[in-house]
Amino acid sequence: MTRVLITGANRGIGLALVRQYTADGVEVVACCRNPSTARPLQELVASSGGQVRIIELDVADDAAIASLKRTIGDVPLDVIINNAGINGTPKAQSAERIDVEGWMTTMRINALAPILIAQALRDNLLRSSEKKLVAISSDYASTGTNYGSSRERYAYRASKAALNNGMRALARDWAEDGILVGILYPGFVRTDMTGERASASPNSISAEHSALCLTRRIAELTPATSGAFLDYNGETLDW
Ligand SMILES: NC(=O)c1ccc[n+]([C@@H]2O[C@H](COP(=O)([O-])OP(=O)(O)OC[C@H]3O[C@@H](n4cnc5c(N)ncnc54)[C@H](OP(=O)(O)O)[C@@H]3O)[C@@H](O)[C@H]2O)c1
Repeated sequence: MTRVLITGANRGIGLALVRQYTADGVEVVACCRNPSTARPLQELVASSGGQVRIIELDVADDAAIASLKRTIGDVPLDVIINNAGINGTPKAQSAERIDVEGWMTTMRINALAPILIAQALRDNLLRSSEKKLVAISSDYASTGTNYGSSRERYAYRASKAALNNGMRALARDWAEDGILVGILYPGFVRTDMTGERASASPNSISAEHSALCLTRRIAELTPATSGAFLDYNGETLDW
């Protein structure tokens, strides 16, 4: 059975990915900050007959990432999905206002943590048959086209561009080990992150639809598409 690890698995796109993979018969390691309050995940653990396991992980905490490796041990991981992310703290960071501490936290969670997790669990990927490392990125990452309508999301934009850059480097540097890297934009998805804006937009999609498409894109990853920046439909996005 394929085994997938997902960060930020307690709500939004992460939770939808857990549900989709569980329905597909995949074993899921669901990481979240507060397992005791993650009720939907607890229900999945109870109903899945051992298919879903929850591990506590605050991705902003280096010690927690080291502890994750100790908890996981040597078990093979076919797919690692770095999904946990924040909008920016505060979300509003603009040409007029930058919050230094908030910027650093946003970079730490959105850009640095996925690389630290990849490094910590690289050996688990190498022990698997699929060897797929995935980052949930954003259209806001695009420097060339400056996608995204908000003029107040400098920290989020920079963090997702840095995430893409780091993942692209791993795609190159780990290619000879057979590790494939997916850099995927999930669409404009109705979650807590997008709130009213997405609920009111005809262009938004559900977390369930996004997760279904993302799992299909991950299944399709090959050496030819490793390191590419793709959306949930498989279309190439500008860097
Ligand atoms: N929704 C969209 O339209 C959209 C578009 C482009 C990209 N994305 C990306 O998709 C990913 C998921 O977004 P979403 O829309 O599902 O957002 P969401 O509903 O706000 O969920 C965010 C998830 O990340 C977790 N998280 C945040 N900080 C964390 C930390 N320090 N340690 C561990 N987990 C942490 C949250 O856990 P807690 O419950 O503990 O806070 C939650 O599970 C993010 O990377 C986001 O940037 C989303």
